[in-house]
Amino acid sequence: MKSIILIFTIFTSLLSAKYLSNESCKECHEDIYYEYQTSYHSKTYFNDELHRKVANKISSTKYDCGVCHMPGATNLKELESGKNRPSEHEIEQTDAISCFYCHQIGFVQKAHDKNINFLSKKPAGYKPSMFGSLENADDSDKHEMLNNPIYKKNVCLGCHSHKRNSHGVLIFDAMEDNQDSTGCIKCHMPYSPGAVEKTNKRGREEHRSHDFPGIHNSEMIKDGVDISISSDNNTIEVKLENKMPHPLIIQASRLKYLEVTIKRDDKIIWKNFKNSPMEDKKGAFVTEFLDENDKFVSIPAFAHKRGFVNNLKAKETRVIKYSVESIKSNDIITASMYLMLVKPSCSVDLDLKDPKLTKPILMKQFILKK
Ligand code: HEC
Ligand code: HEC
Ligand code: HEC
Ligand code: HEC
Ligand code: HEC
Repeated sequence: MKSIILIFTIFTSLLSAKYLSNESCKECHEDIYYEYQTSYHSKTYFNDELHRKVANKISSTKYDCGVCHMPGATNLKELESGKNRPSEHEIEQTDAISCFYCHQIGFVQKAHDKNINFLSKKPAGYKPSMFGSLENADDSDKHEMLNNPIYKKNVCLGCHSHKRNSHGVLIFDAMEDNQDSTGCIKCHMPYSPGAVEKTNKRGREEHRSHDFPGIHNSEMIKDGVDISISSDNNTIEVKLENKMPHPLIIQASRLKYLEVTIKRDDKIIWKNFKNSPMEDKKGAFVTEFLDENDKFVSIPAFAHKRGFVNNLKAKETRVIKYSVESIKSNDIITASMYLMLVKPSCSVDLDLKDPKLTKPILMKQFILKK
């Protein structure tokens, strides 16, 4: 084991080793670099319209989202207080959730409002250490490598566990107390073909994918829930099974909803809602928020309490029953789960135009022919 001096600091210290940009990793980790570029970890204030619009709506001067969304920024405090604005000229900011940042997380401390990442940094003049889970990784001239058990345990917890707003309202709660990162990595960093780095002295044939597929990935969204239907003459039972070890709704801007129809002779003769999926409260999965006067607010930062909440817990199975007029043979019953990346109330307030954000996306469908 190499002996090195680790200095734990939350943010940067004047003494810390030089920042290495995402671009600089490309020289040796080309495949991983390009995967990462397509991932949502490469998104931040500058290239994620939704994030920028929400942040600007909350405040035109203060930006306090950086600890999770551009954690490598050297001026997080100034951004929070409004002394500085996000700047496209700062590489530590435009690098979003950067390679260098993630691979320096040495310790995660649990806390009430949100967890805190502690970075393990080397003093200036030393080669930086990158943490990972490779055993006995080779050294390179750019960085040392250290195996750190955190890569199996806590590395995703620092940002993904939970978050409260400044009024103490829980905005999202994705992980159970003792849940570790092993599962997250298994599903969200599947192995993909290709070496870990270009010299590939060990002849490795695959690496952990860094495109972090999730809710924006058209294949991945089919895997989150299973749907099945059973019915007798005048009831339909839709069984939903959340296969994920986290809630169905994490991010507060999302709406996921069930559309159930009965088709007879090619005509829809019954549907679980008329105009808005919110008419069927059992089938609409969403987290809503209220202000101090119990008025609905679409932006979680303004919430003083939670409003209507319907969610499926990690691994929860739920049966939703509908009473209908008599079902006949040859009727076709369809249950579909749709996703809206941004719920309508939010897209109106933010004046969102991108159809990818505002149009329903089919996640999963089950069809039963009587
Ligand atoms: C000059 C080439 C080079 C550059 C540039 C480089 N690396 Fe590496 N990196 C390597 C080599 C060689 C290995 C060892 C691979 C092995 O042992 O199979 C490695 C391994 C790693 C590992 C695995 C360590 C472990 O213990 O799991 C991580 C993580 C890593 N690099 C991150 C980075 C990041 C982040 C950057 C950019 C800031 C970067 N590297 C830039 C050459 C490089
Ligand atoms: C430094 C904070 C931070 C850490 C650490 C972190 N993430 Fe993220 N992650 C984010 C943020 C912020 C976003 C949302 C970015 C955006 O959409 O603008 C995100 C997005 C995601 C997404 C959503 C992608 C999508 O398209 O749906 C997945 C999946 C994900 N992260 C998985 C992980 C996993 C697995 C780990 C642990 C290996 C991890 N993250 C560690 C901050 C972090
Ligand atoms: C069994 C596979 C599986 C495991 C394990 C898993 N996820 Fe997911 N996750 C998914 C799938 C599938 C989706 C996309 C479908 C959806 O969101 O309904 C998803 C979506 C997400 C999203 C996007 C949510 C959003 O609304 O933007 C994040 C963030 C995320 N997962 C983080 C994590 C974290 C953190 C862990 C570890 C605690 C984890 N996941 C463990 C399968 C998994
Ligand atoms: C959100 C955090 C996060 C970000 C951002 C991130 N990585 Fe990783 N990386 C991980 C985790 C977690 C693993 C280890 C997965 C495992 O083996 O358990 C890993 C593994 C690696 C490995 C070893 C690959 C393997 O299959 O063992 C290399 C090399 C690496 N990362 C380089 C990079 C580079 C280069 C970037 C930026 C282009 C980057 N990482 C961005 C979390 C991250
Ligand atoms: C505690 C860490 C944390 C903080 C602080 C934080 N976020 Fe996030 N944010 C996340 C994570 C993690 C995700 C990925 C999705 C998820 O977990 O639901 C995310 C996703 C998002 C998304 C969805 C992005 C997309 O493209 O789909 C928006 C919008 C967003 N955050 C806005 C903000 C704003 C605005 C702030 C500051 C007021 C903020 N967040 C502060 C952790 C955080």
